[in-house]
Amino acid sequence: MTKPTRTRSQAAEAAEDRGSNGSANPTFGDIVAARFDRRDLLRGLLGVGAIAAVVTPRALAAGAAQAAEAPDTRFPFAEIEAGSDAHHHVAAGHDAEILIRWGDPVLPGAPAFDPRNQTAAAQSRQFGYNNDFVGYFPMPGAADPASHGLLVVNHEYTNEELMFPGLGRQDVKAVAFKGMTRELVDIEMAAHGGSVVEIRRQDGKWAVVPDSRYARRLTATTPMVLTGPAAGTDRVRTAADPGGRAVLGTINNCAGGTTPWGTWLTCEENINYYFSGASAEGSPEAANHKRFNLPASAYAWGRFHERFDVSKEPNEPNRFGWVVEIDPFDPTSTPKKRTALGRFKHEGAAGIVARGGQYVIYQGDDERFDYVYKFVTAGRADSGDRDLLDSGTLHVARFDADGRGTWMPLVFGQGPLTPGNGFHGQADVVIGARLAADRLGATKMDRPEDVEANPKTGKVYVMLTNNGKRKADQVDAANPRADNRFGHIVELTPDDGDHAAPGFTWEILVRCGDPSVAAVGATFSSATTANGWFGMPDNCSVDGLGRLWVATDGNAPSRTGRNDGIWAVETEGPGRGTGKHFFRVPDGAEMCGPYFTPDDTTFFVAVQHPGEADEEDPKAVPATFEAPATRWPDFDPAMPPRPAVLTITRRGGGRVGT
Ligand code: FEO
Ligand code: CA
Ligand code: CA
Ligand code: CA
Repeated sequence: MTKPTRTRSQAAEAAEDRGSNGSANPTFGDIVAARFDRRDLLRGLLGVGAIAAVVTPRALAAGAAQAAEAPDTRFPFAEIEAGSDAHHHVAAGHDAEILIRWGDPVLPGAPAFDPRNQTAAAQSRQFGYNNDFVGYFPMPGAADPASHGLLVVNHEYTNEELMFPGLGRQDVKAVAFKGMTRELVDIEMAAHGGSVVEIRRQDGKWAVVPDSRYARRLTATTPMVLTGPAAGTDRVRTAADPGGRAVLGTINNCAGGTTPWGTWLTCEENINYYFSGASAEGSPEAANHKRFNLPASAYAWGRFHERFDVSKEPNEPNRFGWVVEIDPFDPTSTPKKRTALGRFKHEGAAGIVARGGQYVIYQGDDERFDYVYKFVTAGRADSGDRDLLDSGTLHVARFDADGRGTWMPLVFGQGPLTPGNGFHGQADVVIGARLAADRLGATKMDRPEDVEANPKTGKVYVMLTNNGKRKADQVDAANPRADNRFGHIVELTPDDGDHAAPGFTWEILVRCGDPSVAAVGATFSSATTANGWFGMPDNCSVDGLGRLWVATDGNAPSRTGRNDGIWAVETEGPGRGTGKHFFRVPDGAEMCGPYFTPDDTTFFVAVQHPGEADEEDPKAVPATFEAPATRWPDFDPAMPPRPAVLTITRRGGGRVGT
């Protein structure tokens, strides 16, 4: 979700701007950022002062000519031009085709999409809104596992102004949700969650298999269960669920992961947006709500569904903010909220098997000044235990100025996680993971988004999207720029190549932004063209060759002279730190998804919220159903823009991006 531009309400914006981390954890304010990598020294980038808030769009073609000669590249595709228009663009020699759009049928009997007469019943059978994470599971026994499988897709949030005719933006003070009805709220709830669709490639073209027995829609009302340390405890009990185990729905499903045992991990991120009402003075949950910027009152759900009103149901927020595990091959299975992995604004949950066989899931908590986590299972990934994610150790990262780092365990009774500090069991530790991490002195990061390990090299990449609120006296070695508008990527190397190890070394792969504007302090390689740099890294994917692909959220014509998209980023050799532009989204959209088939012949990407206005452009006209920034992908005057998943394939076959 594009928080700086797509903030759900003025109230939420004020809350988000502060971040919610009031802890005194070190940002090494008293330590001059002691550690810069060798490339920084070579480029004379030390001592860069204030960062320009906005990069003036520049003549891209002219800049391209200035780039140094590219070293041998592992990304031999022809780079696309950075820029913005109503369409999507992909590197030459590739096809990018629409696979499924908001409103397309998922479940048998789904009615044809009619956005002027939408109903909650129809939406609950159709593809939801704002596709984010995309995962692919080869169909067991398929002749070609890369041509037949299940696609799982998150539906993160809804844009009422683009979804509903005649409504406009509802989450602004002057409107205060006046136009929202129970039916509209119920449509929103049905447009959240996720979809499972069976897909097949025939004659080179992917299509959804209609009426598949695997098809599933998950929404904000789908029955789910809590498992792990918080399940059944007092703080997750509500009037509707006195047992504290049965939850309705999943919301704000951002990124995620797929496990080696064939399940889908979908991550609940900005859950605070959905809650309204006042948190009662002196309520035992008051500090917990505050640390989660909750309630942010960015939706009207609490007016029609009491559980989203914290004055009536203060424990309901404790039932969201989790990683949810789903068996995509069994549409009757009950999704499990795995509380052992902690409760925070989960971006993603990409994992890798450790040397000892444990499964290690890296996780970002997407808030300014929040943390990077990892969960290490107690058992082995190949144990056959379907509840492997209920037992293990959650850790939070501390990045030291000398390039070392430590994973600190969040375990009740260890260190400061004691009753004296408000932790009475592991349930309190996981429900209040942020508060527990504060106590351990975790490093406050610049909005951690996706974190993914590269199985080829063992290195781990952390996308830090931006943090315009970091002050000069709050910089540290791992977050070295004040007013970090463009974000950066940190590379971790686990000690002994073991992802379960408690220690690691780290360095910054690249500081993002326009490297030709000295004040920005960007550190892309000199081989990076004027098209090849980007800001605001968000999601990422590592392909079968171990190449890193980065999706962005927050580039826009008024800010960076370019729309969001996919950039390939070289991590090895002399070209390390080179960005190369591969795909670009239409106006108003952010780039989500990226996920490869096991053989890299198909790259799935998700275009989220196409048609939004460039909200950082004061001259931009507010986007609405009637007047969107683009009508992608249908370009039908009767049809609003529709978030959609695309398949990118190489013309004539072969690995994408070669
Ligand atoms: Fe849903 Fe952090 O983006
Ligand atoms: Ca983002
Ligand atoms: Ca995102
Ligand atoms: Ca990812």
